[in-house]
Amino acid sequence: MSWRRGSTSISSAPEPDAAMATTIIEPFRIKVVEPIALTTRAQRQELIKEAGYNPFKLRAENCMIDLLTDSGTGSMSSYQWAAMMIGDESYAGAGSWFRFESAVRRVFGHAHVFPTHQGRASERILFSAAVSEGQIVPGNGHFDTTRANIQARGATALDLPIAEAADPENMHPFKGNIDTDALDALLTEHGRDVVPLVLMTITHNAGGGQPVSLANMREVAQICHHHGVPLFLDAARFAENAWLIKVREPGQADRAPRDIAREVFHLADGAMMSMKKDAFGNIGGLLTVNDSDLAENVRQLLIRTEGYVTYGGLTGRDLEALAVGLDEILDPAYLAYRHASSKYLADHLSDVGVPLIKPAGMHGVYIDARRFCSHLPNSALPGWSLSIALYVEAGVRACEVGNVMLGSVAPDGAPRWPTLDLVRLAIPRRVYTQSHIDYVAECIAELYTKRAEIAGMTMLGPRTVLSHFTADFAPAVQTEAA
Ligand code: F0G
Repeated sequence: MSWRRGSTSISSAPEPDAAMATTIIEPFRIKVVEPIALTTRAQRQELIKEAGYNPFKLRAENCMIDLLTDSGTGSMSSYQWAAMMIGDESYAGAGSWFRFESAVRRVFGHAHVFPTHQGRASERILFSAAVSEGQIVPGNGHFDTTRANIQARGATALDLPIAEAADPENMHPFKGNIDTDALDALLTEHGRDVVPLVLMTITHNAGGGQPVSLANMREVAQICHHHGVPLFLDAARFAENAWLIKVREPGQADRAPRDIAREVFHLADGAMMSMKKDAFGNIGGLLTVNDSDLAENVRQLLIRTEGYVTYGGLTGRDLEALAVGLDEILDPAYLAYRHASSKYLADHLSDVGVPLIKPAGMHGVYIDARRFCSHLPNSALPGWSLSIALYVEAGVRACEVGNVMLGSVAPDGAPRWPTLDLVRLAIPRRVYTQSHIDYVAECIAELYTKRAEIAGMTMLGPRTVLSHFTADFAPAVQTEAA
């Protein structure tokens, strides 16, 4: 098995010359290795129990393959490590800051650039400066911390995805698109007083890593412009979004990912970014804005809560690594490999009937847990239960994005289940090789054959806005029998 050209839809990937095989190789080789400790099923049964049946509470060393997140978990390149050695740790005006700023400008192009320690700090600062109580922040699909930060302002985070996004089998190439009619209607009804900004998340993480098309972005920009409402991007995975535009959107195949990314940023008035994803950072964030008044507010908040404007909670060496990472992420050879490797896992799972969000995005493969565990009702948390079974059976740590992470409780106490209950197999950047991915595919295929044995789970609490990080759980069997 291999990541073959013929098995991907990459038409514009760099072509191998005639003498070469069709296999897409990892465009890097390994210089430093991190040992993986192997555990037994019996050990993992104990370990997950001790962790309150919450994968976030496991020790990472007890996870053989860690697909919990692609955030901050990537491998840095030799160039990034080398750049760290020239990190300038001066408090103000460090050389590292100027290299970082110019790398950001080359891609983002916005007038004001602010470093933060990670994405959610950018969210807190932007929303503190621009959003107030009672307002509405619409978008294609807010990520969990984004939603929490909007809600912390007393505002409403409103998702307006296209209808196709709710159907996992629908092969629409841009299921991250926003419903532009719904957005236009909202802005016509409310205007800028109620809607301080529109936020497009590229790619739409909570919905399966689905991209937003250039056509949709252009239309959103036009609507926002017409209503005088600023458009912002949550650009954590902007390079993957640019690649999917290149390979899926008519007329874009011949463009460089950097060129597409620049056009997308140019359509927006500012952006937030978790640089732990598409900047190959282990830590780091970014906030860019065009508006000078907003920039002044951001500057004050940044200094008060993150750090001075030329480091924003990061060290000089972090800024250096991120500057190099921002360039590396737009390398077509890397993006072609990244796309091929996620699609490889998705195709292998699909071939044995595992229900997935289709088409697969790039930072992970999302299993449709309600169909995988069709014997479990929503109250038995199919996605959470599947993630526990996957850990026990295979030592693979995955992340539920569903009933626990996105569910809520109605005022009358009734549970509100999200549209989809998913298990995300997030793929850290440049970390795992094809044999690791083969192992994951084989284990999930095996688990699928005995899926009826997967036990339901119940949440013990505490229930908070972000329960999935902290709550304890237990097998639901006893509760159901009682
Ligand atoms: N926006 C998106 C789309 C994200 O995926 C994340 C983080 C953030 C914002 C927040 O950034 O972690 O740097 O503070 N996503 C991680 C994940 C945690 O696992 O998907 P952060």
